[in-house]
Amino acid sequence: MKILVTGGLGFIGSHTVVELQNEGFEVVIIDNCSNSSTEVLKGITKITGQEPVLEIFDLREKEKVQDFFKRHTNIKGVIHFAASKAVGESVEKPLLYYENNITTLVYLLQQLQEQEAANFIFSSSCTVYGQADELPITENAPVKAAESPYGNTKQIGEEIIQDTCKVTPNVKAISLRYFNPIGAHPSAKIGELPLGVPQNLIPFITQTAIGLREQLSVFGDDYPTSDGTCIRDYIHVVDLAKAHVVALQRLLQDKNTSNYEVFNVGTGTGSTVLEVITSFEQVSQQKLNYKIVGRRDGDVIAAYADTTKANQELGWKAKSGLEDSLDSAWKWEQKVRQTK
Ligand code: UD1
Repeated sequence: MKILVTGGLGFIGSHTVVELQNEGFEVVIIDNCSNSSTEVLKGITKITGQEPVLEIFDLREKEKVQDFFKRHTNIKGVIHFAASKAVGESVEKPLLYYENNITTLVYLLQQLQEQEAANFIFSSSCTVYGQADELPITENAPVKAAESPYGNTKQIGEEIIQDTCKVTPNVKAISLRYFNPIGAHPSAKIGELPLGVPQNLIPFITQTAIGLREQLSVFGDDYPTSDGTCIRDYIHVVDLAKAHVVALQRLLQDKNTSNYEVFNVGTGTGSTVLEVITSFEQVSQQKLNYKIVGRRDGDVIAAYADTTKANQELGWKAKSGLEDSLDSAWKWEQKVRQTK
Protein backbone atom coordinates (compact mmCIF):
# COMPACT_ATOMS: atom_id res chain seq x y z
CA MET A 1 0.00 0.00 0.00
CA LYS A 2 1.49 3.29 -1.14
CA ILE A 3 1.87 6.20 1.29
CA LEU A 4 3.12 9.70 0.48
CA VAL A 5 5.34 11.26 3.12
CA THR A 6 6.07 14.94 2.51
CA GLY A 7 9.22 16.13 4.25
CA GLY A 8 10.23 12.48 4.55
CA LEU A 9 13.93 13.34 4.75
CA GLY A 10 13.43 15.53 7.81
CA PHE A 11 13.87 14.61 11.45
CA ILE A 12 10.42 13.22 12.27
CA GLY A 13 9.63 12.37 8.65
CA SER A 14 12.62 10.06 8.21
CA HIS A 15 11.85 8.13 11.40
CA THR A 16 8.25 7.77 10.29
CA VAL A 17 9.33 6.45 6.88
CA VAL A 18 11.31 3.74 8.69
CA GLU A 19 8.33 2.73 10.84
CA LEU A 20 6.02 2.71 7.80
CA GLN A 21 8.40 0.46 5.89
CA ASN A 22 8.73 -1.79 8.95
CA GLU A 23 4.94 -2.20 8.82
CA GLY A 24 5.06 -3.15 5.13
CA PHE A 25 3.96 0.15 3.57
CA GLU A 26 5.49 1.34 0.32
CA VAL A 27 6.71 4.90 0.78
CA VAL A 28 7.07 7.76 -1.67
CA ILE A 29 8.79 10.86 -0.30
CA ILE A 30 8.46 14.41 -1.54
CA ASP A 31 11.11 16.70 -0.08
CA ASN A 32 12.67 19.96 -1.30
CA CYS A 33 15.86 19.28 0.71
CA SER A 34 15.74 22.82 2.10
CA ASN A 35 16.52 21.57 5.59
CA SER A 36 17.59 17.99 4.88
CA SER A 37 19.85 15.96 2.65
CA THR A 38 19.62 12.94 0.37
CA GLU A 39 22.13 11.28 2.73
CA VAL A 40 19.11 10.60 4.94
CA LEU A 41 17.76 8.31 2.23
CA LYS A 42 20.87 6.15 2.64
CA GLY A 43 20.32 5.99 6.41
CA ILE A 44 16.71 4.90 5.95
CA THR A 45 17.71 2.29 3.38
CA LYS A 46 20.43 0.89 5.65
CA ILE A 47 17.93 0.46 8.49
CA THR A 48 15.06 -1.09 6.54
CA GLY A 49 16.83 -2.65 3.56
CA GLN A 50 14.42 -0.85 1.23
CA GLU A 51 14.98 2.42 -0.58
CA PRO A 52 11.90 4.61 -0.58
CA VAL A 53 11.06 6.48 -3.78
CA LEU A 54 12.19 10.10 -3.53
CA GLU A 55 10.92 13.03 -5.59
CA ILE A 56 12.73 16.30 -4.97
CA PHE A 57 10.52 19.33 -5.52
CA ASP A 58 8.85 22.13 -3.61
CA LEU A 59 5.19 21.72 -2.72
CA ARG A 60 4.69 25.43 -3.39
CA GLU A 61 4.92 24.52 -7.08
CA LYS A 62 1.28 23.73 -7.66
CA GLU A 63 1.73 22.24 -11.13
CA LYS A 64 4.28 19.79 -9.76
CA VAL A 65 1.89 18.75 -7.00
CA GLN A 66 -0.86 18.20 -9.58
CA ASP A 67 1.51 16.30 -11.83
CA PHE A 68 2.65 14.11 -8.91
CA PHE A 69 -0.91 12.98 -8.16
CA LYS A 70 -1.55 12.33 -11.88
CA ARG A 71 1.46 10.02 -11.92
CA HIS A 72 0.66 8.36 -8.57
CA THR A 73 -3.01 7.48 -8.69
CA ASN A 74 -2.84 4.83 -5.98
CA ILE A 75 -1.70 6.82 -2.93
CA LYS A 76 -3.73 5.52 0.03
CA GLY A 77 -2.52 7.97 2.65
CA VAL A 78 -0.55 11.19 3.02
CA ILE A 79 1.55 12.11 6.04
CA HIS A 80 2.40 15.78 5.75
CA PHE A 81 5.57 16.88 7.54
CA ALA A 82 7.00 19.34 5.02
CA ALA A 83 6.96 22.72 6.73
CA SER A 84 9.19 25.40 8.21
CA LYS A 85 9.54 25.22 11.98
CA ALA A 86 11.85 27.87 13.40
CA VAL A 87 9.83 30.09 15.72
CA GLY A 88 12.24 33.07 15.64
CA GLU A 89 12.59 33.00 11.86
CA SER A 90 8.82 32.92 11.51
CA VAL A 91 8.57 36.21 13.41
CA GLU A 92 11.05 37.80 10.99
CA LYS A 93 9.65 36.23 7.81
CA PRO A 94 5.93 35.65 8.43
CA LEU A 95 4.95 35.49 4.77
CA LEU A 96 7.55 32.81 4.09
CA TYR A 97 5.97 30.73 6.86
CA TYR A 98 2.42 31.29 5.62
CA GLU A 99 3.52 30.38 2.10
CA ASN A 100 5.53 27.32 3.11
CA ASN A 101 3.13 25.94 5.68
CA ILE A 102 -0.29 27.04 4.48
CA THR A 103 -0.14 27.25 0.68
CA THR A 104 1.38 23.78 0.45
CA LEU A 105 -1.30 22.34 2.74
CA VAL A 106 -4.04 23.83 0.55
CA TYR A 107 -2.47 22.41 -2.62
CA LEU A 108 -2.29 18.94 -1.07
CA LEU A 109 -5.87 19.04 0.21
CA GLN A 110 -7.11 20.20 -3.20
CA GLN A 111 -5.64 17.02 -4.65
CA LEU A 112 -7.08 14.82 -1.90
CA GLN A 113 -10.56 16.29 -2.37
CA GLU A 114 -10.51 14.83 -5.87
CA GLN A 115 -9.83 11.32 -4.63
CA GLU A 116 -12.51 8.77 -3.86
CA ALA A 117 -11.05 8.14 -0.41
CA ALA A 118 -8.18 10.09 1.11
CA ASN A 119 -6.41 9.71 4.43
CA PHE A 120 -4.35 12.57 5.78
CA ILE A 121 -2.12 12.94 8.85
CA PHE A 122 -1.02 16.45 9.82
CA SER A 123 2.00 17.50 11.92
CA SER A 124 0.56 19.82 14.50
CA SER A 125 2.09 20.99 17.75
CA CYS A 126 1.33 21.48 21.42
CA THR A 127 2.17 25.09 20.68
CA VAL A 128 -1.54 25.50 19.82
CA TYR A 129 -2.35 25.29 23.56
CA GLY A 130 -0.01 28.16 24.53
CA GLN A 131 0.25 28.21 28.33
CA ALA A 132 -2.60 25.84 29.13
CA ASP A 133 -4.70 26.61 32.21
CA GLU A 134 -4.58 22.99 33.37
CA LEU A 135 -1.86 20.34 33.33
CA PRO A 136 -1.55 17.74 31.98
CA ILE A 137 -3.03 19.12 28.76
CA THR A 138 -5.97 17.27 27.20
CA GLU A 139 -7.17 17.68 23.63
CA ASN A 140 -10.14 19.64 25.01
CA ALA A 141 -7.91 22.45 26.30
CA PRO A 142 -8.70 25.64 24.40
CA VAL A 143 -6.46 26.73 21.56
CA LYS A 144 -4.84 30.01 22.65
CA ALA A 145 -3.79 33.00 20.53
CA ALA A 146 -0.59 32.00 18.72
CA GLU A 147 2.69 33.47 19.96
CA SER A 148 4.35 33.39 16.53
CA PRO A 149 3.54 33.04 12.84
CA TYR A 150 4.92 29.47 13.07
CA GLY A 151 2.42 28.63 15.84
CA ASN A 152 -0.29 30.35 13.86
CA THR A 153 0.39 28.16 10.82
CA LYS A 154 -0.30 25.10 12.97
CA GLN A 155 -3.59 26.55 14.24
CA ILE A 156 -4.68 27.74 10.80
CA GLY A 157 -3.54 24.43 9.31
CA GLU A 158 -5.77 22.50 11.69
CA GLU A 159 -8.72 24.79 10.86
CA ILE A 160 -8.19 24.40 7.12
CA ILE A 161 -8.20 20.62 7.46
CA GLN A 162 -11.25 20.62 9.72
CA ASP A 163 -13.19 22.88 7.34
CA THR A 164 -12.22 20.66 4.41
CA CYS A 165 -13.29 17.49 6.21
CA LYS A 166 -16.66 19.05 7.09
CA VAL A 167 -17.64 19.42 3.45
CA THR A 168 -15.66 16.51 2.02
CA PRO A 169 -16.58 13.20 3.68
CA ASN A 170 -14.15 11.35 1.41
CA VAL A 171 -11.24 13.12 3.14
CA LYS A 172 -10.41 11.72 6.58
CA ALA A 173 -7.75 13.43 8.65
CA ILE A 174 -5.96 13.33 11.97
CA SER A 175 -3.88 16.15 13.45
CA LEU A 176 -1.17 14.95 15.80
CA ARG A 177 -0.17 17.58 18.34
CA TYR A 178 3.44 16.79 19.13
CA PHE A 179 5.01 17.75 22.40
CA ASN A 180 8.85 17.99 22.26
CA PRO A 181 10.33 15.39 19.87
CA ILE A 182 13.93 14.42 20.67
CA GLY A 183 16.36 11.53 20.23
CA ALA A 184 17.38 9.49 17.22
CA HIS A 185 16.96 6.04 15.76
CA PRO A 186 18.71 3.47 18.02
CA SER A 187 20.85 2.41 15.04
CA ALA A 188 22.27 5.98 14.95
CA LYS A 189 21.79 5.90 11.17
CA ILE A 190 19.27 8.74 11.16
CA GLY A 191 18.65 11.57 13.63
CA GLU A 192 18.24 15.31 14.01
CA LEU A 193 20.53 17.51 11.91
CA PRO A 194 19.79 21.16 12.64
CA LEU A 195 21.32 23.67 10.25
CA GLY A 196 23.43 26.31 11.99
CA VAL A 197 23.04 27.07 15.69
CA PRO A 198 20.35 24.82 17.18
CA GLN A 199 17.33 26.61 18.62
CA ASN A 200 16.04 23.56 20.50
CA LEU A 201 17.33 22.32 23.81
CA ILE A 202 18.54 18.79 23.07
CA PRO A 203 20.63 19.45 19.96
CA PHE A 204 22.16 22.42 21.78
CA ILE A 205 23.05 20.15 24.70
CA THR A 206 24.60 17.43 22.53
CA GLN A 207 26.52 19.97 20.42
CA THR A 208 27.87 21.57 23.61
CA ALA A 209 28.90 18.20 24.99
CA ILE A 210 30.72 17.30 21.77
CA GLY A 211 32.58 20.65 21.81
CA LEU A 212 30.81 22.36 18.93
CA ARG A 213 29.22 24.98 21.20
CA GLU A 214 30.97 26.47 24.16
CA GLN A 215 28.13 26.71 26.62
CA LEU A 216 24.42 26.05 26.91
CA SER A 217 22.31 28.99 28.06
CA VAL A 218 19.43 27.92 30.28
CA PHE A 219 16.63 30.38 29.62
CA GLY A 220 15.36 31.45 33.03
CA ASP A 221 15.39 29.86 36.49
CA ASP A 222 12.72 32.02 38.05
CA TYR A 223 9.65 30.21 36.72
CA PRO A 224 7.11 28.83 39.21
CA THR A 225 8.35 25.22 38.89
CA SER A 226 10.24 22.91 41.29
CA ASP A 227 13.68 24.23 40.26
CA GLY A 228 12.64 27.43 38.48
CA THR A 229 13.23 26.16 34.91
CA CYS A 230 10.55 25.43 32.30
CA ILE A 231 8.82 22.08 32.06
CA ARG A 232 8.33 20.20 28.78
CA ASP A 233 7.26 16.73 27.68
CA TYR A 234 10.19 15.23 25.73
CA ILE A 235 9.13 12.36 23.48
CA HIS A 236 11.42 9.92 21.68
CA VAL A 237 11.16 10.46 17.93
CA VAL A 238 10.69 6.72 17.30
CA ASP A 239 7.66 6.67 19.62
CA LEU A 240 6.34 9.72 17.80
CA ALA A 241 6.97 8.07 14.43
CA LYS A 242 4.98 5.01 15.55
CA ALA A 243 2.07 7.26 16.53
CA HIS A 244 1.84 8.31 12.86
CA VAL A 245 1.64 4.71 11.73
CA VAL A 246 -1.16 3.81 14.16
CA ALA A 247 -3.02 7.03 13.29
CA LEU A 248 -2.81 6.13 9.61
CA GLN A 249 -3.95 2.58 10.31
CA ARG A 250 -6.93 3.94 12.24
CA LEU A 251 -8.03 5.84 9.13
CA LEU A 252 -7.29 2.99 6.74
CA GLN A 253 -9.26 0.56 8.91
CA ASP A 254 -12.17 3.00 9.32
CA LYS A 255 -11.81 3.04 13.09
CA ASN A 256 -12.06 6.81 13.29
CA THR A 257 -15.18 8.17 14.97
CA SER A 258 -15.28 11.39 12.95
CA ASN A 259 -13.52 12.30 9.72
CA TYR A 260 -11.40 14.87 11.58
CA GLU A 261 -9.71 13.97 14.85
CA VAL A 262 -6.96 15.42 17.03
CA PHE A 263 -4.53 13.56 19.31
CA ASN A 264 -1.83 14.67 21.71
CA VAL A 265 1.43 12.83 21.24
CA GLY A 266 3.68 13.07 24.28
CA THR A 267 4.89 10.88 27.11
CA GLY A 268 2.67 12.39 29.78
CA THR A 269 5.70 13.25 31.92
CA GLY A 270 7.08 16.75 32.31
CA SER A 271 10.79 17.45 32.91
CA THR A 272 12.47 20.72 33.82
CA VAL A 273 15.47 21.98 31.84
CA LEU A 274 17.74 21.23 34.81
CA GLU A 275 16.34 17.69 35.07
CA VAL A 276 17.14 17.20 31.39
CA ILE A 277 20.70 18.42 31.97
CA THR A 278 21.18 16.10 34.97
CA SER A 279 19.81 13.16 33.03
CA PHE A 280 22.07 13.98 30.08
CA GLU A 281 25.10 14.18 32.37
CA GLN A 282 24.30 10.71 33.68
CA VAL A 283 23.83 9.25 30.23
CA SER A 284 26.94 10.84 28.73
CA GLN A 285 29.08 10.49 31.88
CA GLN A 286 30.28 14.05 31.59
CA LYS A 287 29.58 17.48 33.05
CA LEU A 288 27.77 19.88 30.78
CA ASN A 289 28.95 23.48 30.59
CA TYR A 290 25.87 25.64 31.12
CA LYS A 291 24.85 28.93 32.66
CA ILE A 292 21.54 30.41 33.67
CA VAL A 293 20.51 33.43 31.61
CA GLY A 294 17.31 35.45 31.28
CA ARG A 295 14.01 34.09 30.04
CA ARG A 296 13.45 33.57 26.30
CA ASP A 297 10.51 35.48 24.79
CA GLY A 298 7.52 33.32 24.06
CA ASP A 299 8.43 30.38 26.32
CA VAL A 300 5.52 28.89 28.25
CA ILE A 301 6.16 27.82 31.84
CA ALA A 302 5.03 24.24 31.56
CA ALA A 303 3.53 21.90 28.98
CA TYR A 304 3.01 18.17 29.20
CA ALA A 305 0.44 15.92 27.65
CA ASP A 306 -2.51 14.00 28.92
CA THR A 307 -2.16 11.04 26.58
CA THR A 308 -5.31 9.17 27.62
CA LYS A 309 -7.02 9.72 24.26
CA ALA A 310 -4.09 8.38 22.23
CA ASN A 311 -3.66 5.47 24.69
CA GLN A 312 -7.30 4.46 24.47
CA GLU A 313 -8.25 5.25 20.89
CA LEU A 314 -4.99 4.68 19.04
CA GLY A 315 -3.75 1.95 21.37
CA TRP A 316 -0.49 3.90 21.43
CA LYS A 317 1.79 4.76 24.32
CA ALA A 318 5.31 6.16 24.41
CA LYS A 319 7.77 3.41 25.41
CA SER A 320 10.98 5.38 25.93
CA GLY A 321 11.70 7.60 28.89
CA LEU A 322 13.92 10.66 29.03
CA GLU A 323 17.18 8.73 29.58
CA ASP A 324 16.67 6.46 26.56
CA SER A 325 15.83 9.44 24.41
CA LEU A 326 18.87 11.42 25.54
CA ASP A 327 21.09 8.37 25.14
CA SER A 328 20.01 7.95 21.52
CA ALA A 329 20.49 11.69 20.85
CA TRP A 330 24.00 11.51 22.31
CA LYS A 331 24.96 8.41 20.31
CA TRP A 332 23.72 10.10 17.15
CA GLU A 333 25.69 13.30 17.86
CA GLN A 334 28.86 11.27 18.41
CA LYS A 335 28.31 9.28 15.23
CA VAL A 336 27.64 12.40 13.10
CA ARG A 337 30.79 14.16 14.30
CA GLN A 338 32.95 11.04 13.89
CA THR A 339 32.07 10.72 10.23
CA LYS A 340 32.67 14.41 9.43
C1 UD1 B 1 9.92 25.01 20.45
C2 UD1 B 1 8.91 26.01 19.96
C3 UD1 B 1 7.64 25.28 19.61
C4 UD1 B 1 7.95 24.26 18.53
C5 UD1 B 1 9.07 23.33 18.99
C6 UD1 B 1 9.53 22.52 17.81
C7 UD1 B 1 9.47 28.12 21.07
C8 UD1 B 1 9.02 29.13 22.07
N1 UD1 B 1 8.69 27.05 20.96
O1 UD1 B 1 9.38 24.38 21.61
O2 UD1 B 1 6.68 26.19 19.15
O3 UD1 B 1 6.81 23.51 18.25
O4 UD1 B 1 10.18 24.09 19.44
O5 UD1 B 1 10.48 21.60 18.22
O6 UD1 B 1 10.45 28.29 20.41
N2 UD1 B 1 16.01 25.99 26.32
C9 UD1 B 1 17.12 26.48 26.99
N3 UD1 B 1 18.25 26.73 26.25
C10 UD1 B 1 18.32 26.53 24.90
C11 UD1 B 1 17.19 26.02 24.24
C12 UD1 B 1 16.03 25.76 24.98
O7 UD1 B 1 17.10 26.67 28.20
O8 UD1 B 1 19.36 26.81 24.31
C13 UD1 B 1 14.80 25.67 27.10
C14 UD1 B 1 13.59 26.47 26.67
O9 UD1 B 1 13.49 27.67 27.38
C15 UD1 B 1 12.46 25.49 27.00
C16 UD1 B 1 13.09 24.11 26.82
O10 UD1 B 1 14.49 24.32 26.87
O11 UD1 B 1 12.11 25.62 28.34
C17 UD1 B 1 12.73 23.47 25.49
O12 UD1 B 1 13.01 24.39 24.46
P1 UD1 B 1 12.94 23.99 22.91
O13 UD1 B 1 13.70 22.75 22.69
O14 UD1 B 1 13.32 25.19 22.12
O15 UD1 B 1 11.42 23.62 22.70
P2 UD1 B 1 10.11 24.49 22.97
O16 UD1 B 1 10.40 25.91 23.24
O17 UD1 B 1 9.30 23.78 23.99
